[in-house]
Amino acid sequence: MKRVFVNGYGSIGSRIAQFIADDKEIEVAGVGKYSPDEKVADAISRGFKVYVPKSKMDSFKNYKVSGTIEEVLDSCDLVIDAAPGGVGYENKKTLYEPKNLKAIFQGGEKVTGDKSVSTLIFNSRVNYEKAFENKYVMQGSCNVTGMGRILQPLKEKYGKKLKRFDATLLRRWADLEDTKTPVKDSIEWTKKPHHDEDVKNYMGADTPLFIRVFKVPTRQMHVHLMDIRFDGPAPSTSEIIDLFKNEYGVATLYGVKGTKDIRDFAESIKFNFKDTNMIHIHADVTERQDDVIKLTYSDDQTGIVVPENHILMQAMLFKKKRAEAFKHTEELFHMEEKKKLLQEHFSMK
Ligand SMILES: NC(=O)c1ccc[n+]([C@@H]2O[C@H](COP(=O)([O-])OP(=O)(O)OC[C@H]3O[C@@H](n4cnc5c(N)ncnc54)[C@H](OP(=O)(O)O)[C@@H]3O)[C@@H](O)[C@H]2O)c1
Repeated sequence: MKRVFVNGYGSIGSRIAQFIADDKEIEVAGVGKYSPDEKVADAISRGFKVYVPKSKMDSFKNYKVSGTIEEVLDSCDLVIDAAPGGVGYENKKTLYEPKNLKAIFQGGEKVTGDKSVSTLIFNSRVNYEKAFENKYVMQGSCNVTGMGRILQPLKEKYGKKLKRFDATLLRRWADLEDTKTPVKDSIEWTKKPHHDEDVKNYMGADTPLFIRVFKVPTRQMHVHLMDIRFDGPAPSTSEIIDLFKNEYGVATLYGVKGTKDIRDFAESIKFNFKDTNMIHIHADVTERQDDVIKLTYSDDQTGIVVPENHILMQAMLFKKKRAEAFKHTEELFHMEEKKKLLQEHFSMK
């Protein structure tokens, strides 16, 4: 049985740990905590062993922690790093490389420059098998992951007929459970966003993709406004909607007024963490104009990368066939069921 450690127990780490704990093919060795706060008790109450850095053992004396991160990693086969952006690189250098341990990193890290954690960004729709021979792989961020689910089916169907993709990303300010970050009454822009380069890492450097990024005052998901320009008249919107009908992790919804409608529905039917784990195409604000399809979709920022980490873990640990890995992930995440419920609730009236 392979042993997996989840290093970091924040928005992403706590979700990953909880889902993969039900995976009978692996054992979750424990989770890493760095601050002695209420999340330590939360993790223990969910049945996780909590490990902490050796240098901080004293500050956790009021909690029943199981030992040090440095020690537990010696008996693991893979670590899923869920540290704050940039800290994963430090962990790679100080912990994972010296211990010759495989690691998955999250989208706040880099894949170019001095502090890159890997040369590969994973997207299960695009490059599943590429993860087989890599010891270190970065899971794309939420926006980067969602884009692969849109771009790859378009590329497969329309190929050279696609002239360019111009995308404006409206990013959420903070996550739902991140009560420490106040949501500022402002719209901020991002200079030199990482998203173009990250998406091109797995879609190909020649992808004609141009991205602008704005942060807006909400905790409820991201929205992408993507103009897809064709060489000649664009296909009909119904042809585009049909293209995504059977795509895993893509729901097509009608009558949604805003992102909170989706979260509220997810909460009402008790999806774990109020996550849908997918992107949602908003069909009634997707239209064709001459040679352009104006596509609007929302992206579940915290949920979308969690099943992706599980698929990636199976590629790196077991080199499973892609279809088998997806089937196993579906057993834990029930995304087909979630998609069906969402599509029934937000159906064309
Ligand atoms: N939030 C999202 O929507 C989202 C979506 C996709 C990807 N990501 C990426 O996922 C990563 C984690 O983001 P997050 O939102 O989960 O952050 P977060 O909620 O701030 O959680 C970060 C966690 O890392 C822990 N930590 C602190 N120092 C650490 C270290 N040296 N090594 C390992 N863990 C450490 C923190 O522990 P303590 O609390 O104990 O201090 C905390 O539990 C980032 O790369 C981010 O870009 C985030």
